[in-house]
Amino acid sequence: MAEVIIIVAMTPDRLIGKNHQMPWHLAEDLQSFKQITSGHTVVMGRKTFASIGQPLPGRTNLVISRTVKSIAGCEVFADMESALQRGDELGEKTFVIGGSQIYQAALPLANCLYVSWVNGDFSGDTFFPDFSLDDWQVNTEEEFATFKLVQYQRNG
Ligand SMILES: NC(=O)c1ccc[n+]([C@@H]2O[C@H](COP(=O)([O-])OP(=O)(O)OC[C@H]3O[C@@H](n4cnc5c(N)ncnc54)[C@H](OP(=O)(O)O)[C@@H]3O)[C@@H](O)[C@H]2O)c1
Repeated sequence: MAEVIIIVAMTPDRLIGKNHQMPWHLAEDLQSFKQITSGHTVVMGRKTFASIGQPLPGRTNLVISRTVKSIAGCEVFADMESALQRGDELGEKTFVIGGSQIYQAALPLANCLYVSWVNGDFSGDTFFPDFSLDDWQVNTEEEFATFKLVQYQRNG
């Protein structure tokens, strides 16, 4: 299978969401997300799609749902495996863009991880799954005013 890449913005305690939205609005992070994922395939859960409200332009949008069968401008899959298979057919890079349930399912399969480590005191209700940084090595790091973007590669 081609490279499965997770991309997420989270705090050091792995917070990613609040009331079905992101807990923050970081324009620079959204810009960097757009730059990294543009031209590629993005895979997301039905709830993350609902929070975005429309297909992300310039990317092939794959949505995972057990209940919804079709969404305009997206391809819908009933499980992670078939979505990733479709990602394989479409090209080299498939970015898994959340949310929590989808990260949980994709983490064991991912070889690359982009984390925007967000600074600041935020509260919320949705978290990235527990994982160990010992399993990952840092590839690149870039400091921004309100977050640090780190690209990790899985060890071994
Ligand atoms: N900080 C970040 O980088 C970031 C990124 C993305 C999202 N978020 C946040 O994360 C939150 C949403 O996360 P979430 O965990 O609640 O929802 P989610 O993962 O986006 O979507 C969950 C839905 O996906 C479907 N699903 C999940 N696992 C599945 C499986 N194995 N097979 C088939 N379908 C499956 C189900 O849809 P059905 O109910 O239709 O069956 C489920 O209700 C929001 O607050 C959002 O803003 C943050």
